[in-house]
Amino acid sequence: AQNDRQAFQRINDLTVEYYRSVLEHSPAGAVARKYLEKRTATGEIAAAYQLGYASDRSDGLVQHLKANGADLEKALKLGIIRKSDRGWYDLFRSRLMFPICDPKGNTIAFAGRVLDASLPKYINSPESPLYHKSSVLFGINMALPAIRSENSVIIVEGYFDHLALFRAGIRNVVATCGTALTASHAALLKRHAAKVFTLFDSDTAGRKATIRSMELFLEQRLPAYVITLPAGDDPDSFLASNTVEDFRSRQTKARPAFDFFVRSLLAATPADSVDNKVRVIDELAPRFRKIADPVERDLYEKEICRLMAIAPHAFRKRLGGMDLTAR
Ligand code: GTP
Ligand code: MN
Ligand code: MN
Ligand code: MN
Ligand code: MN
Repeated sequence: AQNDRQAFQRINDLTVEYYRSVLEHSPAGAVARKYLEKRTATGEIAAAYQLGYASDRSDGLVQHLKANGADLEKALKLGIIRKSDRGWYDLFRSRLMFPICDPKGNTIAFAGRVLDASLPKYINSPESPLYHKSSVLFGINMALPAIRSENSVIIVEGYFDHLALFRAGIRNVVATCGTALTASHAALLKRHAAKVFTLFDSDTAGRKATIRSMELFLEQRLPAYVITLPAGDDPDSFLASNTVEDFRSRQTKARPAFDFFVRSLLAATPADSVDNKVRVIDELAPRFRKIADPVERDLYEKEICRLMAIAPHAFRKRLGGMDLTAR
C-alpha cells in the first residue's frame, strides 16, 4: 500500500510537471499565459500554485506519463486519464490547471478551468485513493503557517479567491471549491485555529453556504464570523477594484455568524406581524439550540427578543420549553 501511494504520488508529480511545462513553454500554452495575465496570476503566483495548462491535445498527458515509465492503470485510478477502445486519452482538455494538495503539499487531485465562458466552468479529478473531496480544503498547504500564527482562518469559495487573497498578502485562507463545507472540514480547521471567518460570494448560493457552515461551526464550538462583500462580488472581484485596507476594514466589521443569520432572517421576513414572528422563531429554533455556550445563548436570546419585540418567556415556550438554566 505504501508502494502504491508512492506510485500514485509520482504520477501526480509528473502530471503537475507536464501541465506546467505546457503553460510555461509551449506555443499551445500562449492562450493560457494570456488568460493568466488578465487575471494577474503570472510569474511567482503561478509558480506558488503550480498552475499549468492542459492543451486541446487528446493524449499529451498520456504520452508524458508513458515516456516516464508510469503505470497508466494507476493514472486511470486517479481519473486523470481514461481508456476507450481507441486507446488512452486525457481527462482535462483546454483547461487551466490547479493542482489540489493535501496539508503537506502533496498533489492529490486537479481542477481545470475553461478559458472562455463554456460549461462546466471547472472540472475536478474524481474521488480516488488519494482524493477524498469531503475532507479537502484547497490551499491548506500554503495557509497552515499563517493559520497557526494568526490563530484564525478565512474560508472562501473558489480557487481565484484564494489566489487573490494570497497575492494581497493574506495567507490564512482555504477554499471549499464548490463542495459544501463538511463536518470534517470544520474539525480540521478547529485543530489549527481558534476562530474562522467565512468570506463566501455575495450571492444567493454564498449566503446559503454561510448559513449552512454556521451550523457546523456551532456544532464544533468554533467561533465563526461572517465577512460580507458588496452584492455580486467575490473576494477576487472585490480585490480587483478595492484595496487590501478596504478588505481589512470589512474583516474588522465581520459579524458573529449567528448574528448574521438572525439579521438575514429578519431582513427576509420582517418581524412585523404575529405570523411572521412565529415563522422567524421556527426558522431560528434548530440553530439556536446548537449554541453550546450558555452565556452566548442568553445574550442571543435577549438580542432576538429585543429585535422582534417579544417576551423571553414566549420565545422559550415556542422553542419547546427549553430551560436555559438547566444546561
Ligand atoms: P472564476 O469565474 O474563475 O472567478 O471562478 P469562481 O471561483 O468565482 O467560480 P464560482 O463562484 O462560480 O464557484 C466557486 C467555486 O466553486 C469555484 O472556484 C470552483 O471551485 C467551484 N465550481 C464552480 N463551478 C463549478 C463547476 O462547474 N464544476 C465544479 N466541479 N466546480 C465548480
Ligand atoms: Mn458557479
Ligand atoms: Mn459563487
Ligand atoms: Mn465566485
Ligand atoms: Mn470569481
